[in-house]
Amino acid sequence: MNPQRLGESTVTVPISHPGAPGKGVNAGVGWGSACQHVAMETPLIRRPHPDEAAELMAVGAMAFGWSPPADGPLSAWQRAHFEPYAWCAEVAGRPVAKTAAFAMETTVPGGGSLPTPGVTSVAVRPTHRRRGLLRALMTRQLREMVEDGVPATVLTASEGSIYGRFGFGVSTLYAHLEISRTMVGFLDSAPGRRGGLSLEPMDATTARGILPGLHEAQRAVTPGMSSRPALIWDDIATDHESGRHGRSELFHILARDDGGRAVGALGYRIESGPAGSTVPGSVVRVHHLIASEPDVAMDLWRVVLDLDLTRTVTCYRAIDEPLPWALVDPNAVSTRAVSDWTWMRILDLPAVFGARGWYADGEVVIGVVDEMFPANHGSWMLTVERGAAHLTPTDREPLVVGPISSWATLYMGTVRAGTLAAAGRLEGDPGALVTLGAMFATPTVPFNDVTF
Ligand SMILES: CC(C)(COP(=O)(O)OP(=O)(O)OC[C@H]1O[C@@H](n2cnc3c(N)ncnc32)[C@H](O)[C@@H]1OP(=O)(O)O)[C@@H](O)C(=O)NCCC(=O)NCCS
Repeated sequence: MNPQRLGESTVTVPISHPGAPGKGVNAGVGWGSACQHVAMETPLIRRPHPDEAAELMAVGAMAFGWSPPADGPLSAWQRAHFEPYAWCAEVAGRPVAKTAAFAMETTVPGGGSLPTPGVTSVAVRPTHRRRGLLRALMTRQLREMVEDGVPATVLTASEGSIYGRFGFGVSTLYAHLEISRTMVGFLDSAPGRRGGLSLEPMDATTARGILPGLHEAQRAVTPGMSSRPALIWDDIATDHESGRHGRSELFHILARDDGGRAVGALGYRIESGPAGSTVPGSVVRVHHLIASEPDVAMDLWRVVLDLDLTRTVTCYRAIDEPLPWALVDPNAVSTRAVSDWTWMRILDLPAVFGARGWYADGEVVIGVVDEMFPANHGSWMLTVERGAAHLTPTDREPLVVGPISSWATLYMGTVRAGTLAAAGRLEGDPGALVTLGAMFATPTVPFNDVTF
């Protein structure tokens, strides 16, 4: 089987090799023919300038269809334009398209942590769409990461149809849960500290100091979870009015164990009645429920499911969230949606496979299709021995072949090899697919609750 048989359509990278950062590069492949109805100056791909924050925000506002926030300091998303790996496209002296990235790390199965810049703020003005600007920006951005030796990058997608062509594969899913308070009753066997936790309200400044440490402790035991950039923690503490969408302020509750150690935190908003007053029947929107130990997590559920004057609690959680199984009636928890959240682009295949913990030994020759980064492309001998993987290039015919995007999905343990094969995202020998399914299997489903 030939790795060329599967994968996305052949890609001609539309930009020539860039000049030094800030000098700009000509993006212009196919520019004239793709937009014959509009006379268009050749775009310049360059770094955003620090004095362009408002203009770049306006590009995003028009592309996404929202009004730029007027309250408070610059948001994390505005400041991301001046972090590493940010690029914009200038036409007629003005930025019309942009991409940026937050400095982030992501936990992989086994507990290791990979540097994974979090691509964000991707937007193209409606007046300049479908002329290759996203492709030019993303190609430049990903190449720069490869030049820097970055092993992988992550993003969340506004539409699931956009990023597969750039080699991104879904690496975490979320379940949107809606819980009916009146139906909730915990089983006697449900875990909990039985009064061994003390709860205290936290103001936003205290939360800014405590939440990052709690999140990192949770991330260490949660494959798929990313670090939350300091800029976003600042936004959470600032609690911009524009981010409330008519709901209450963000209320914080901190849980300490009987030794006084901070072990968990809850952040939520109340969606009140039409007059803005809290009335029986309000909806609780959980912003975060952070705990690295299951009994603390269950106690935090008890807290949020016992708020007066509320009827429904909504939350984004892992698709294997234990809560329904801790209730007498699991139907108190409805799953309103299961959807993609994090997408991962593997940039350095051997480094990424070497960073993971593995739970079953095995050996399979795999075929990877990566037309953007030839170093990943080809046949590899994947050997797992005593929890560690070795990936070595080989001339042998691969038994299972797929695009780099599918290996990202498989890598994190999100979906089994057999499922990807049944969907046409992998192709190969049935026996080898079973072996790969066992090799890539993980004890828990990956999850990420970081918005970026
Ligand atoms: C999505 C968006 C960034 C695309 O920018 P663009 O400059 O028009 O994209 P390009 O012209 O470079 O297209 C690159 C490829 O992506 C495809 N594509 C672009 N937008 C797409 C979309 N919304 N859905 C599916 N495919 C899309 C193009 O068809 C093209 O495919 P091909 O090169 O394989 O033929 C732009 O439409 C936009 O700003 N949308 C609103 C904001 C948004 O959703 N941003 C993404 C945040 S995650």
